[in-house]
Amino acid sequence: MKLILLMVSTLILLVGEGSADRILSSKRVKRDLTSPLHRGGIRDPFGSYCQRRGGCCPGRDDLCTVPYLDTICYCDLFCNRTVSDCCPDFWGHCLGIEPPFIGQCVRNGNKFLSGQTYKENCNLCTCGTTGRWECEQNACLIENDMIQSVNRGDYGWKATNYSHFYGMSLEDGIRYRLGTQRPSRTIMSMNQIQMNMDPQSEHLPGYFNAVEKWPGKIHEPLDQGNCAASWAFSTASVASDRISIQSMGHMTPQLSPQNLISCDTRNQGGCAGGRIDGAWWFLRRRGVVTEDCYPYVQPKQTPVEVGRCMMQSRSVGRGKRQATHRCPNSRNYHNDIFQSTPPYRLSSNDKEIMKEIMDNGPVQAIMEVHEDFFVYKSGIYKHTDVSLTKPPQSRRHGTHSVRILGWGEERDYNGLPKKYWIAANSWGKNWGEDGYFRIARGENECEIETFVIGVWGRVTMEDMHNQPNRHRRN
Ligand SMILES: *[C@@H]1O[C@H](CO)[C@@H](O)[C@H](O)[C@H]1NC(C)=O
Ligand SMILES: *[C@@H]1O[C@H](CO)[C@@H](O)[C@H](O)[C@H]1NC(C)=O
Repeated sequence: MKLILLMVSTLILLVGEGSADRILSSKRVKRDLTSPLHRGGIRDPFGSYCQRRGGCCPGRDDLCTVPYLDTICYCDLFCNRTVSDCCPDFWGHCLGIEPPFIGQCVRNGNKFLSGQTYKENCNLCTCGTTGRWECEQNACLIENDMIQSVNRGDYGWKATNYSHFYGMSLEDGIRYRLGTQRPSRTIMSMNQIQMNMDPQSEHLPGYFNAVEKWPGKIHEPLDQGNCAASWAFSTASVASDRISIQSMGHMTPQLSPQNLISCDTRNQGGCAGGRIDGAWWFLRRRGVVTEDCYPYVQPKQTPVEVGRCMMQSRSVGRGKRQATHRCPNSRNYHNDIFQSTPPYRLSSNDKEIMKEIMDNGPVQAIMEVHEDFFVYKSGIYKHTDVSLTKPPQSRRHGTHSVRILGWGEERDYNGLPKKYWIAANSWGKNWGEDGYFRIARGENECEIETFVIGVWGRVTMEDMHNQPNRHRRN
């Protein structure tokens, strides 16, 4: 009888959040097919603990412990008072009773005990005392029904499941994947440049892509990871393209977003968001080194740390623009600094934006990212109404910044023209159309035409002569 009780008792796992994590994190778990299955497929080990200890302790005794996995468990009568930290054989060995049967849940034919958990997309489900799974109700970044609704509907674009977004909540997606603050009212009222152009008579092609006009000078989409620093990524990539174009390919630097994230810290939030006007100020006054020199360190953990500035750059006199520090990596010693002129704001007229892109290169644009944008796979994006009937927590948006580098026009199945922008995101090349996306043009979709920025790289005649040599290896 005692033996049976002992065996039954080891089946029980009564744990709170904290101790559950300690147990599950152990790699030294003995596998046993008949013991309960835990999160991560780890099973609770059988064994005698209080028995091996040689007995139990009356009342509360915080020293009445036995090593258990990579932590300890208790054999005092106090152990199941609030959150149970009792050894698996506590009830059988110390109390001589069956372990308290609190609840049992079933999932995929497996039985789980009260307190055990599993993760369903972005929500943690816990086996409750009534034998029912109790799941968190967060809106997830990837929702299957949203993908299906978009794909079944006639929205002009298709959605897909991204494994690197799966399991994240929508709130975390908004918090960690965007990262551009809306410009202040003063910045928003910045004068728009006057173009000497008559939008009606100006000839603009039906399709244009900067990648084709300036081969080798337009940089590929970047990946910000779980770091809300699109302010740094969009600024660095627009500046990289502009410098490459204006130097006619003499310099084709891929500028370092990390340099901005870690060093442009005045009123900037690093991986917690920042302002593009601040980023341009830094590029103009301080300058930024290349990605090779100051590589991006994708934060592994959230909430993310910005990292100490490893590159206090300062231009020292005319024509001599080198960082005062070495590159923070051992392979590269080209610590040249690249700078820009002050940025200028374009009008929201799509023709003027198009002319600017065609004449001078890609531009930076702010946009509002809504919940359905994360699952965009291909086509001409427009924010859909598929989440309209859902609770407010499923309909979220946040401010982002991207690089626009071209445009085009397509006819839908009704024969109606659909105009679009071609833009680069910073969610890696596995997202969207190889890291790019197309979005409706001429209707200020997601406010993408509201605040558009152009800039000149600071390129001197000297740069045109010197740079190719400086960057040549051997
Ligand atoms: C501890 O376990 C015993 C035996 O199952 C149970 O009767 C008692 O209510 C538990 N104590 C608390 C505080 O949960
Ligand atoms: C989406 O991808 C994740 C991870 O790759 C997978 O576990 C999940 O089942 C997928 N969801 C759907 C609806 O296909």
